Amino acid sequence: MHDNLHSIVMLIDKIEALKGQIAELKADNEAALEELRIKYLSKKGEVAALFNEFKSVAPEQKREMGQRLNELKNLATERINCLKETFKAQEKEKNKIDITRPAFPAELGTRHPISVVRKQIIDIFSRLGFTLADGPEVEDDWHVFSALNFAADHPARDMQDTFFIEQDKDDVARNIVLRSHTSSVQVRTMETHKPPIRIICPGRVYRNEAITARAHCFFHQIEGLYIDKGVTFADLRQVLLNFAQELFGTDTKIRLRPSYFPFTEPSAEMDVSCMLCGGEGCGFCKHTGWVEILGCGMVDPNVLEASGIDSKVYSGYAFGLGIERITNLKYMVKDLRMFSENDVRFLEEFKSAH
Ligand code: PHE
Repeated sequence: MHDNLHSIVMLIDKIEALKGQIAELKADNEAALEELRIKYLSKKGEVAALFNEFKSVAPEQKREMGQRLNELKNLATERINCLKETFKAQEKEKNKIDITRPAFPAELGTRHPISVVRKQIIDIFSRLGFTLADGPEVEDDWHVFSALNFAADHPARDMQDTFFIEQDKDDVARNIVLRSHTSSVQVRTMETHKPPIRIICPGRVYRNEAITARAHCFFHQIEGLYIDKGVTFADLRQVLLNFAQELFGTDTKIRLRPSYFPFTEPSAEMDVSCMLCGGEGCGFCKHTGWVEILGCGMVDPNVLEASGIDSKVYSGYAFGLGIERITNLKYMVKDLRMFSENDVRFLEEFKSAH
């Protein structure tokens, strides 16, 4: 009896010790887990060994000891299954599709070269105190022509140059057109603002021209207008020199050639020293050392008066430049059509421009 009791206590000790071990079991991979299964649950494993000892337990203790052993076996089975589940879940996690991951690297777009240069020009004039103005692309005759001192029979009103939305041959004042220049915004600004006025207006303009490498039926201009007391041609020249040097480099020189526009008097066209040869003369500037970039002049008193500004008190200057033209010069784009074709290979050339 004593012997029997002793071996029962020993068996209970062993069961409890094994339980403790099993609760702590860990395995890093499938193979290690299989080793544990063999060690504890196989026919020659630790649990089976205790079941062997169970054979010699006295009948009156069999019930209790059987329960304890079954508990142990269940515990070991559960622990090993639990570890297996953990592996499976990890495996699943590995193969799971991450739906938040971009399918392909998202390519960044680029600014259009016209937008790049427009921004550069706006930045330069903003630093000189010019603010932005805007006006409609579909305009009436008054703002595009009449208020700007165009004679009723000026060739620009002709079908050759202007797109008409509505045309009245007998009464030009009734014409509605696609604006052929941004000078219309000068008029709109003078009508609604009192001097001093210092604005630039970037915008799209339309002309009825055959589309070639050098001409297009639409393009972009930036208009500038400054009106105050005592504004002179010298002010205009200085602002334009500053602009040219900021845009093309501090060594850039400018020259003003007399020209004619109905809305400015005197009028001039401005050339800058060739950005390729620095004024030495090369194929690009047709060996003159100069390239033309804009039209300008002192606002004609008739134009001031037409918009309700007293020309005896105020004077001002205006200038207008083509953004495509400047872009051609800065980035050597030879064909105007490239700007509207949206060939991605062309647009990507401007990735680093800003
Ligand atoms: N509007 C003129 C053009 O389109 C440019 C210009 C603007 C000239 C302002 C003088 C003053 O050619």
